[in-house]
Amino acid sequence: FVEKDLLGKKIVVTAGPTIEPLDPVRYISNHSSGKMGYSIAKEAHARGADVVLISGPTVLDAPEGVEIVRVNTTEEMFNSVGEFFDTCDCLIKSAAPLDYKPENVSPIKIKKDDKENDELDIKFIRNPDIAAYYGNRKNKQIMVGFAAETNNIFEYASEKLKKKNFDFIVANDVTETGAGFQSDTNIVTIIDNNGNLEKYPIMSKKEVAKIILDRVSLLIKSKA
Ligand code: PMT
Repeated sequence: FVEKDLLGKKIVVTAGPTIEPLDPVRYISNHSSGKMGYSIAKEAHARGADVVLISGPTVLDAPEGVEIVRVNTTEEMFNSVGEFFDTCDCLIKSAAPLDYKPENVSPIKIKKDDKENDELDIKFIRNPDIAAYYGNRKNKQIMVGFAAETNNIFEYASEKLKKKNFDFIVANDVTETGAGFQSDTNIVTIIDNNGNLEKYPIMSKKEVAKIILDRVSLLIKSKA
């Protein structure tokens, strides 16, 4: 039995990596598999929410009953969030969007030189920060962020919580075994905007999704 505590609530979840093309055959990206975000979308649907899942490229099947929007680049993810933001009750930013993109995308395949000391310089420019943009325009929306860190986890996560105006942030150390990218489990610490910090043991991404949605459900009720 699953309590439908999110019935009638609209929840937008972003998941997966983004990709930025270099030329027609190459791109840069990161290790996000989408598992964390898809688990949240699935769980939110099971609890009665209307769910929109904005997903970068993944090999995962769309969870049943969830509206899926597939995007490639960070700019596409930014625009897609914009389509749903005003009418949603909660935005959960579990995606790992690339912060930089090549300044120029070559329309033809980049060729290598035959010289042994051949080098390739690519200039990268900033992508929009999706969470910061919408976080600083939020009205009634609950905003949940993630922080993928390799060091200084709490310091960096707390900075992101403030800068992006999240209600709470889910920090994971992506260097820990069983946490972060690709695995079916995660090890998280949740920090809220009152500075409260709660550390959780290793658990499945489904369990992490439940904990996040319990908090979202309480926050939505407290704002009603
Ligand atoms: O997909 P999996 O393989 O299951 O892995 C899960 C995960 C490690 C990707 C996930 O748990 C996670 O940590 N997601 C956030 C990854 C990330 O981009 O972290 P960040 O610290 O760079 O960004 C902080 C927050 O800002 C995140 O909520 C992110 O979605 C958001 N962001 C970042 C950059 C950007 N240009 N726009 C954003 O909105």
